[in-house]
Amino acid sequence: MPRPHHHILVCLNERPAGHPKGSCAPEGAAEVLDAIKRRIHERGLKGQVAVNSTSCLKCCPFGPTVVVWPEGDYYGHMTVDRVDALLDAIEQGRSIETWLIPAAEVGRY
Ligand code: FES
Repeated sequence: MPRPHHHILVCLNERPAGHPKGSCAPEGAAEVLDAIKRRIHERGLKGQVAVNSTSCLKCCPFGPTVVVWPEGDYYGHMTVDRVDALLDAIEQGRSIETWLIPAAEVGRY
């Protein structure tokens, strides 16, 4: 398997309903993961962009949380509708600044 240029992590952590931290699964993270997988395949990016689910990325109030490496971009409130724009940005080597979780919030939860 070729080494991917980019690696996307999607938090699928789920806490009990009413937990004060919240979590990504109840916010639609599985649907986001499925859409990223599907669009990577449809756009012919397999081998260049990898995606995996993960547990908590410590940005819970911003879920669904998605991280793109090697950029180290932490995106919050990801939705299925944003997946193509995210993949466009990755292919173009840029970040989507307005979707980034503020640096001071990353890892706080
Ligand atoms: S539960 Fe997803 S970032 Fe913590």
